[in-house]
Amino acid sequence: MNAPHVAVADLKKHVGHEVTVKGWLYNRRAKGKIAFLILRDGTAHVQAVAVKSEMGEASFALCARLPQESSLIATGLVRADERSPGGVELALRSLDVVGEAQADYPIQIQDVVPDVGFLMKNRHLWLRSKKQAALLRVRSEVIRAIRDFFDSRGFVLVDSPILTPAACEGTSTLFGVQYFDEQAYLTQSGQLYAEAAAMALGKVYCFGPTFRAEKSKTRKHLTEFWMVEPEVAFLELDGLMELMEEFVTHLVRQVLERRAEDLKVLERDLAPLERVQPPFPRLHYEEALERIRKEGVEIPWGEDFGAPHEEALMKGFDRPALVHRFPAAVKAFYMQPDPKDPRYALACDLLAPEGYGELIGGSQRIHDLAFLEKRLEEHKLPREAFEWYLDLRRYGTVPHSGFGLGVERTVAWITGCDHIRECVPFPRMLYKIYP
Ligand code: 4AD
Ligand code: MG
Repeated sequence: MNAPHVAVADLKKHVGHEVTVKGWLYNRRAKGKIAFLILRDGTAHVQAVAVKSEMGEASFALCARLPQESSLIATGLVRADERSPGGVELALRSLDVVGEAQADYPIQIQDVVPDVGFLMKNRHLWLRSKKQAALLRVRSEVIRAIRDFFDSRGFVLVDSPILTPAACEGTSTLFGVQYFDEQAYLTQSGQLYAEAAAMALGKVYCFGPTFRAEKSKTRKHLTEFWMVEPEVAFLELDGLMELMEEFVTHLVRQVLERRAEDLKVLERDLAPLERVQPPFPRLHYEEALERIRKEGVEIPWGEDFGAPHEEALMKGFDRPALVHRFPAAVKAFYMQPDPKDPRYALACDLLAPEGYGELIGGSQRIHDLAFLEKRLEEHKLPREAFEWYLDLRRYGTVPHSGFGLGVERTVAWITGCDHIRECVPFPRMLYKIYP
């Protein structure tokens, strides 16, 4: 009888039985007549113990010399073992090599940690390392949690286009694309299309890759990143802030519940994540400014926050904070001004603690036709490209609001990763597009 094929993460359910594991050789130690093979299959790692007297000369010799990252099919008895990370080990009976790896695998486990430039060039292989695989599993869970949240609250998923005729978030970060004989751009945000969809369906979200030709090299910027953007008809700023708060709390909770093992591999301190509970502090721009200055960081009135400002502000908070009513002049053309004081926009950013800063940007949208027309002009945006967007104000306009959450920044914060390039499988950054 063939031993059943079992995922490494499920081995603990098979103690006392013979199973087959299909995966790769992660690491190995051989000591005389015993060899310890660390096998990985994408779900977890397990130690397989090969004993010469049990396996026979030939198989044991293979265990003792097989190069790192060779692919293999291993069969053995699952034994409970308290000291092992997964609580089990595999007593090896047989080993079949599927593809023997070349002996020069570039990311040797025993070596000193290679520099990150080297690892990035070998990103296609680096993904096999423990921490990188854990990061990708958390990313997958964050994306699932995003969908679960909106799908279970009556939001309709509406995909926005990637090829677009106009800018959404300012003209300085557009990637141009030749679209037959027209100039087109890769989308910076699906928001404008989500607004159209919200007028049709009430509560919607779009979710996909977005592109910004960011000329800056920071640990928070990619040129291609994933963003989820809910948009809700009849929703105003206060309701929007509640939605942000509930949403982020849900994401953190779901990852804590389902990816605890990965967070352990990543050595994430869980205490700050466990504190993520509503209500989040809410700060008017003016109050935020005051707090930033109190930390000794200078910032003139009217400016948007950069990383140093966000960090200074968040020193005072142990959970995410909502900063609302930024000066309208530094924000996007579509933001509704505060009727109480039109110098401010009805905008809100959600900032994460621990130095991670802005995860979400959002606002109430201008719903008045004449006012929106004026804003397009002030921002020197080509009116023809926005006629359809103006139609939304011509036919049954309503106050509405939405936000965008960056997936990679969220994953970086939840995992405690210090650069967002590791929070996307194949990062795209300034001058970096390989592999
Ligand atoms: O604040 P942003 O630019 O807002 C928008 O694009 C709105 N149209 C969203 C909306 O209201 N529907 O971007 C939203 C979020 C940021 O808070 C950040 O998390 C992420 O997208 N983001 C980036 N992530 C990685 N690299 C970049 N270059 C990013 N730019 C924005
Ligand atoms: Mg923003």
